[in-house]
Amino acid sequence: MDLASHCKSSASQCSPHLSSITGKCFALVVFALISRSLFLLAFPGINGRGYSNVLVIADRSFHSLDDFGIRREKFLEVPQIVWGLNNQKIAFARACLTARMLNRTLLMPSLSASLFYKEIDLLQPISFDKVFQFDKFNSLCSGFVRLGRYSEPSNRTAPFKLIKGSGRKWTVDRDLDQLREFGRDPIDSHEIIRVVGKNPFLWHDHWPVNDYARVFECLALVDEIAKEANRVINRIREVGKGSESKSIGELESVPYVAVHMRIEKDWMIHCKKLEQRSNISQICSSKDEIMARVGRILGLKNPTVLYLAVANSLLEDSSLLTGWRDGLLPFEKKRLGVEAIYRKYPYLIQSAIDYEVCVRADVFVGNSFSTFSSLVVLERTQKMMSSGVRSSCGREVRWASYAYNIEGESGGPKRWITNMNDSSLRAVSYGTNDISC
Ligand SMILES: *[C@@H]1O[C@H](CO)[C@@H](O)[C@H](O)[C@H]1NC(C)=O
Ligand SMILES: *[C@@H]1O[C@H](CO)[C@@H](O)[C@H](O)[C@H]1NC(C)=O
Ligand SMILES: *[C@@H]1O[C@H](CO)[C@@H](O)[C@H](O)[C@H]1NC(C)=O
Ligand SMILES: *[C@@H]1O[C@H](CO)[C@@H](O)[C@H](O)[C@H]1NC(C)=O
Repeated sequence: MDLASHCKSSASQCSPHLSSITGKCFALVVFALISRSLFLLAFPGINGRGYSNVLVIADRSFHSLDDFGIRREKFLEVPQIVWGLNNQKIAFARACLTARMLNRTLLMPSLSASLFYKEIDLLQPISFDKVFQFDKFNSLCSGFVRLGRYSEPSNRTAPFKLIKGSGRKWTVDRDLDQLREFGRDPIDSHEIIRVVGKNPFLWHDHWPVNDYARVFECLALVDEIAKEANRVINRIREVGKGSESKSIGELESVPYVAVHMRIEKDWMIHCKKLEQRSNISQICSSKDEIMARVGRILGLKNPTVLYLAVANSLLEDSSLLTGWRDGLLPFEKKRLGVEAIYRKYPYLIQSAIDYEVCVRADVFVGNSFSTFSSLVVLERTQKMMSSGVRSSCGREVRWASYAYNIEGESGGPKRWITNMNDSSLRAVSYGTNDISC
């Protein structure tokens, strides 16, 4: 890799004395090209970020950065992204992957700060970069997808409108054909393609789990929100450290379990309907079932602090905190004394903080029919794999996750990892009881 840049500098040094040294420079260029191909041959499995970084470094001296990756002068614009945090993340990634397929920069979309489903005017748009770091996104996703600002297009007056079809006849294949067609001239010559109509969560899906994971990896919370998540996590560890006093350094090592408890009334109605419709009886878990199963997870230290991620409507229900087995110390936002941190923010950001708390927990327990839980487990699976563990369902591993809605060993919750090889995100978007362990 260094060779390429070395060659560049020697090439410019050589240029005045062309006759004598041209041959040497030429040999160096050839050598650099060959070693680059050999390097890529030697590491065919390098994926995602590693791979594109290698290319950036290797190619820098031969082309400008724009010569590979996503075009910077063609744009895709999508409708405001709506619903829960995780539906929004999936919709955002789907918009990114659509832009990638069209080889276009995605104009930074608006997310929604509130959770109103029907009242469009209550959807409170919030700019993507108020929640996630814009520049960091582009640097982490460099060469894969690219976000642009609305100031980038030279002429916003005449976008081409892409109307996605709808109804039963609008199949996945037709949708894909349409995208292919729109990736070619004459439509491709338009500077902006604007998708109108349905929000991206409802678009057809054409990409494997790995592509989504690649986009999610580039989402880093803005500093302000990341700091709030750290405050909550530190507070959880403080209550977990017990009576012996520990220094800040030792605090990091106090483990905690996060339980994403979906037992609020809306969910219970929804999941009962889902159970009937899909003829699966493992979707709803009562509070008692969750408590019993979490109590049977093997290998937890005594005592262990539990963070209960629950809907705000449940914070008044003090029965949430009783009934856990001895040795488990349950806390929610209120009992932790961090409610005020959350109350400063709209729904989307509260949810993003809870998400972070769950992703970083030592053990996570959720519901495999919840999109929130599913994305938490996907990210934990990624972390587990990048730490070198390959698809382990053992309970001792770091980043262990469980689904409380499915019974596992010794009557506990079932171990859960995301199948990163899955050819579609469907299971993660809509829930499943097939959780790879
Ligand atoms: C996008 O287009 C550019 C220029 O035509 C090309 O070099 C690049 O490889 C394309 N990228 C993708 C991801 O298709
Ligand atoms: C933008 O594009 C439209 C339609 O092609 C054209 O009429 C208009 O003059 C353009 N505006 C600028 C500032 O180039
Ligand atoms: C639902 O599942 C049960 C057992 O899994 C089966 O016996 C029953 O026939 C199924 N009902 C329908 C309507 O598919
Ligand atoms: C995914 O694919 C890899 C390599 O093909 C394999 O080793 C791994 O077991 C697969 N994981 C799952 C969950 O199927």
